[in-house]
Amino acid sequence: MNQTARKILVTSALPYANGPIHIGHMVEYIQTDIWVRFQKMCGNQCLYVCADDAHGTPIMLRARKEGIEPEALIARVAQEHKADFADFNVGFDNYHSTHSEENRHYASLIYQRNKEKGNIASRTITQAYDPIEEMFLPDRFIKGECPKCGAQDQYGDNCEVCGASYSPAELKNPVSAVSGATPVERDSEHYFFKLANFEAMLKGWIRDGHLQEEVANKLGEWFEAGLHEWDISRDAPYFGFEIPDHPGKYFYVWLDAPIGYMASFKNLCDRTEGLEFDEFWGPESDAELYHFIGKDIIYFHALFWPAMLNGADFRSPTAVFAHGFLTVDGQKMSKSRGTFIKARTYLDHLNPEYLRYYFAAKLGAGIEDIDLSLEDFQARVNSDLVGKVVNIASRCAGFIKKRFAGQLAGQLADPNLFQSFVQAGEQIAGHYEKREFSRAVREIMALADRANQYIDEQKPWIIAKEPERDAELQQVCSMGLNLFRLLIGYLRPILPATAERSEAFLQVDPLTWESLKNPLLDHHIAAFKPLMTRIEPSQIEAIINASKEDLEKQADAATQPAGPLADDPISDTIDFADFAKIDLRVAKIVKAERVEGADKLLQLTLDLGGETRNVFAGIKSAYDPADLEGRLTVMVANLAARKMRFGVSEGMVLAAGPGGKEIFILSPDSGAKPGMRVK
Ligand code: MSP
Ligand code: ZN
Repeated sequence: MNQTARKILVTSALPYANGPIHIGHMVEYIQTDIWVRFQKMCGNQCLYVCADDAHGTPIMLRARKEGIEPEALIARVAQEHKADFADFNVGFDNYHSTHSEENRHYASLIYQRNKEKGNIASRTITQAYDPIEEMFLPDRFIKGECPKCGAQDQYGDNCEVCGASYSPAELKNPVSAVSGATPVERDSEHYFFKLANFEAMLKGWIRDGHLQEEVANKLGEWFEAGLHEWDISRDAPYFGFEIPDHPGKYFYVWLDAPIGYMASFKNLCDRTEGLEFDEFWGPESDAELYHFIGKDIIYFHALFWPAMLNGADFRSPTAVFAHGFLTVDGQKMSKSRGTFIKARTYLDHLNPEYLRYYFAAKLGAGIEDIDLSLEDFQARVNSDLVGKVVNIASRCAGFIKKRFAGQLAGQLADPNLFQSFVQAGEQIAGHYEKREFSRAVREIMALADRANQYIDEQKPWIIAKEPERDAELQQVCSMGLNLFRLLIGYLRPILPATAERSEAFLQVDPLTWESLKNPLLDHHIAAFKPLMTRIEPSQIEAIINASKEDLEKQADAATQPAGPLADDPISDTIDFADFAKIDLRVAKIVKAERVEGADKLLQLTLDLGGETRNVFAGIKSAYDPADLEGRLTVMVANLAARKMRFGVSEGMVLAAGPGGKEIFILSPDSGAKPGMRVK
């Protein structure tokens, strides 16, 4: 670029270290990565940092449940996250952790500076406390009956049945979801960030072009409601950083999470010659700072974060870019439909660049949700990428290789057409810059249509039949390959791996926005290898099936107790008609055996009052097979048979409990008859 290079620091939100990356997350990391790659292609200094968000109660409890230290849990998850991102070609310049010395340093510093300026208050509050676990309970770890409608087993502060909101103290018959104990009330001193001190600063900031319009409007509403003090401390036991001057008190995970952006960058600076932390974060910084986030975490990034930074004499972000949520086939991702797709499950079956392309084709600069329609996904990838873009290269490359020993012509057959492609690059760049990726994709595909049209008109396969038209053949095919080069260059932020393979085929340096302006003439290219294959419907099916199996694995392993310790919050409800379809029957366990090679499974032979079923159940940790024989249990009798690694399972038995030795399969000695309906 002819203007001077910009200095840009970019972040994506830090994923929690207690679960796997799924394709919903990938919307964000792909969106950010495309933008960063575009900036790099323009010759800007653009650095992209991220980290795992490793602190908080859920991570502490998750580690406890697995019987390992939180440090071991977050180390393992970090490896998985990094592998998922790398395999999706997300090119972080650094990936760190909030559980790091850099983060402890900046969290303490930001706290201290704010405290010195009178931005921290302390006061005693009363909270629910679990007397068995000896810990205060976050809202989502308390359950009880809804005070409005009486529905059982409602979490925290809202009822999933009637939709009522209430304070956790209003729940009837509350119990701790951690131990089952009845919570008691207990006092504790907490520390608060005085957000209201920043009212003037924030009012200016949110109207100063740092936010998308719809986000600024939303914040306006929050302003009206008043800026409340923010509780930034938690009591032990907590996995996090102890507050320096208050032993036994910890920073709330959301205090040190965004500071993780700084920590990751500092860690990069310490390893990179000439990269200065203050040039990007100091109050005088002339660098640009952008945070890409999902719309669910706007409050933290657009209010608390700029205020905390301001109160600690750091610069505030240039902009916060929020995106919407991913739906699959028009609905929230669902485990039972097999659309809760983990990044790894997708990667096991399909090229990551397909999803990158599809998300790009759908993403705009706003916060609307984006839908992955599986049918549209296949159709679009097959017709656009395979049918249009890659096809141009394969239509021209063979002739150049065979007839001209891989040598491109010395001049363009149609310089005007080439120029119009170059000119379109400016518009496309503008769309990338504004995060209007769907517009960029639309323009690029219009160019791809024109390139194919050019080849259709020139008909190189006809020219090739007339030996005296050799020069023309070479020029036409070289022209086609030059158009292909521009297209793949424009798609490079979206399809980095395909672009790299195209560069190897064209024998050129990594394409930059600037280099694309000059045609490739008198140049030797390598043999063409297919760059991409079509998506087959069977591959999509395999992903859906594997995602359903992920769910079954959890169920079979019985390591997933209901409640907040589960891998994912209870998100889907089924209506009564669905519930009525479940045929629950009393079954007698006539035989129970260990399964060779399975850690968690027992093989059960169940008598349903005449009919016998073979079922695998993940209850080995809790029961000695001999103890089960002759007992009664409840099974889902109309579950379709499933082929599992060890055989076919013809139903499922119901069990509950926290896992390990405490899994209970119902075995009342109540005179129930095998085969009897339970509901
Ligand atoms: N740990 C916090 C962020 C701290 S940032 C200082 C967090 N983690 S998360 O793992 O729940 O989410 C990480 C990012 O992924 C968030 O920006 C979130 O909005 C985004 N997404 C999570 N699920 C998503 C979809 N289904 N669709 C689109 N984005 C989603 O929040
Ligand atoms: Zn209710």
